[in-house]
Amino acid sequence: MLNIGILVGSLRKESYNMKIAKYIVDKYPEKANFEIVEIRDFPLFNSDLEEDVPESVLRAKSIIKDKDGIIIVSPEYNHSIPGVLKNALDWFSRGEYVMMRKPYMIMGASMGSIGTARMQGHLRQVLNSPSFKMYSISENEFLYASIQKNIDEKGKLTNERTIAKLDKKIDDFLKFTKVVKEEL
Ligand SMILES: Cc1cc2nc3c(=O)[nH]c(=O)nc-3n(C[C@H](O)[C@H](O)[C@H](O)COP(=O)(O)O)c2cc1C
Repeated sequence: MLNIGILVGSLRKESYNMKIAKYIVDKYPEKANFEIVEIRDFPLFNSDLEEDVPESVLRAKSIIKDKDGIIIVSPEYNHSIPGVLKNALDWFSRGEYVMMRKPYMIMGASMGSIGTARMQGHLRQVLNSPSFKMYSISENEFLYASIQKNIDEKGKLTNERTIAKLDKKIDDFLKFTKVVKEEL
């Protein structure tokens, strides 16, 4: 079975994006081993700290290293990548390149109508950079607009069409990940 790491770009207790990440972990255990990788305790990146890399960063990197693919679920902040996620990626871009050449899918939920499209574009640019060189096809993306209308208080998605679309996105991403793992 494939091992997939999930990074979440919001630390908010009631984060919609974290709810979606947990929904994926709970809903698809028979499809792959999904694991949310904690980035909450990462300090702000500073090259001076690289002499003694913080434990929280080392722990996350060792988990990511063993993953076959990565899903990033993140809000959009001011038309771009939330600082907490960009900070984690900056840490992952140093020392051992644990994200290198892995397949990825970007997902994002927002309360507005554009559903994190601008953040996703910026994130793809980062994941194409030399310390990442990650793999993706155009289908490996999922945007949730108006998420507050499509999720209940327990974090369950409520819109049947959205759920069917998510099922397919996960299947397609896992197929892609398998091909990359076997062929590249
Ligand atoms: C600092 C900040 C900037 C935001 N900028 C955007 C934005 O550019 N586009 C957008 O669609 N929503 C924006 N939002 C609203 C978020 O979509 C909304 O707060 C969302 O619920 C955050 O995700 P979360 O629930 O996972 O924390 C912003 C929210 C914050 C706190």
